[in-house]
Parts: sequence; C-alpha cells; structure tokens
Amino acid sequence: MHGKGWVITGMILFAAIAAFPFYWNWVGEDKPFPKLEMPEKARACVEKTEFMRANHMRLLDAWRISVVRDNLLIYTAASGKTFEMNLHKTCLGCHTSTEKFCDRCHAYNDVTPPCWKCHVATGVSEEGDAS
Ligand code: HEC
Ligand code: HEC
Ligand code: HEC
Repeated sequence: MHGKGWVITGMILFAAIAAFPFYWNWVGEDKPFPKLEMPEKARACVEKTEFMRANHMRLLDAWRISVVRDNLLIYTAASGKTFEMNLHKTCLGCHTSTEKFCDRCHAYNDVTPPCWKCHVATGVSEEGDAS
C-alpha cells in the first residue's frame, strides 16, 4: 500500500520522458513563421513560386556557375521570359530587402547561406563588395 504513490509517480515520470519527443516536436511546430516582405509591384517570380520555394538555391547555383564559369548572362525561364543571371540586380531588384525576405525565412529554417559575405545584402547595415 505504502509504495503505490511512488509507482504512480514513476509511471507519470516515465510517460513524461517517453512523450518528450512529441511535445518537443509540438514546440518546434509552434514557432511562428515570420512575415516575409513580398515585392510590391511584381506579381510573379522568375519561375513558379512553388518551384522557387523548393529550388531557389539550385537556381542560384546554376546562375553562378553559368556566369562565372561559362560567361553566360541571360536566363530563359519556363515562361519564355528572360532574366539577367545576377543575384543583386535581378533577385534583389524585386526582393528589395534581403533581411526581410531571404534572411527571415533562413533564420526560421536554421540556414545561413554565406552569400552576404561578398554580395551586397539589402535592408541591413553591413555591406559586402561583389556585385
Ligand atoms: C520580377 C520580380 C522577381 C524577381 C526577379 C525574383 N523574384 Fe522571387 N518572387 C517574386 C514574387 C512576386 C514572389 C511571390 C509570388 C507569389 O506571391 O506567388 C516571389 C517568390 C519567391 C520565393 C518564394 C517565397 C515563398 O513564399 O515561399 C523565393 C524563395 C524567391 N522568390 C526567391 C527569388 C530568387 C532567389 C530570385 C533570383 C534568382 C528571385 N526570387 C527573383 C518576384 C521576383
Ligand atoms: C520561403 C523561405 C525562403 C526564402 C524566402 C528564401 N530562402 Fe533560401 N533557403 C530556404 C531553405 C529552407 C533553404 C535550405 C534548403 C535545404 O537545405 O535544402 C535555403 C537555402 C538557400 C541557399 C543554399 C544555402 C546552403 O548553404 O545550401 C541559398 C544560396 C539561398 N537559400 C538563397 C536565398 C536568397 C538569395 C533568398 C532571397 C532572394 C532566399 N534564399 C530566400 C528558404 C528560403
Ligand atoms: C567569397 C565571395 C563570394 C561568396 C561567399 C559568394 N559569392 Fe557569388 N560571386 C562572387 C563574385 C566575385 C562573383 C563574380 C561577380 C561578377 O563577375 O560580376 C560572383 C557571382 C555570382 C553570381 C553571378 C553574377 C552575380 O553577380 O550575381 C551569382 C548568381 C552568385 N555569385 C550567387 C552567389 C550565392 C547564391 C552565394 C551564396 C551561396 C554566393 N554567390 C556567395 C563572390 C562570392
């Protein structure tokens, strides 16, 4: 009879420890998604929004390689529209604040691309020196 209280305490403790990964997950999912600043004038990105969300890093990588290695400057999108393959002029021409767009989403996702060490970030005080 006397030990019953402890058994129950033990069961509750065990349940709490066993459940830990679940509420840890729940805490993680509860982190509010930041508000991203969207371009005011343009209504479409270089490619479809879903494609950009999932593949912008691959697109940027392809752009960089095309420009730096192959000296190509113009990208033709699936829509037939053409864009200069330039992080600053093109991407940041529409997404005018790297801080309120790129960086916010990256911070939420725990990624820190090193691009702003060289490319000029916008909407922040520090500046780099590549184009
Ligand atoms: C012509 C203007 C324009 C250019 C150039 C442009 N974007 Fe966009 N981008 C937009 C707009 C507008 C949206 C939101 C479209 C929508 O609401 O569906 C968007 C959406 C996105 C998204 C998805 C955001 C989300 O909600 O998940 C990413 C990521 C993105 N752009 C990155 C880039 C990158 C990287 C570049 C350069 C390679 C680039 N954009 C160039 C206008 C542009
Ligand atoms: C809607 C959210 C979102 C927005 C907006 C966004 N990104 Fe990203 N970005 C991500 C995620 C998530 C990853 C990591 C994806 C992965 O690891 O597969 C990423 C990865 C990257 C990478 C690759 C980093 C690495 O180390 O592999 C680059 C480069 C990049 N983003 C550039 C940009 C630029 C430039 C902008 C703004 C024009 C931007 N992103 C806007 C979500 C976003
Ligand atoms: C060590 C410095 C450095 C870093 C870090 C860096 N870049 Fe660059 N990048 C350059 C230089 C220099 C050029 C060549 C500029 C030119 O030819 O006008 C360039 C060119 C590019 C180009 C093609 C032309 C242009 O100016 O946009 C793209 C796209 C690009 N980089 C994307 C990226 C992305 C995305 C990241 C982050 C993952 C990144 N770079 C990180 C230095 C850097």
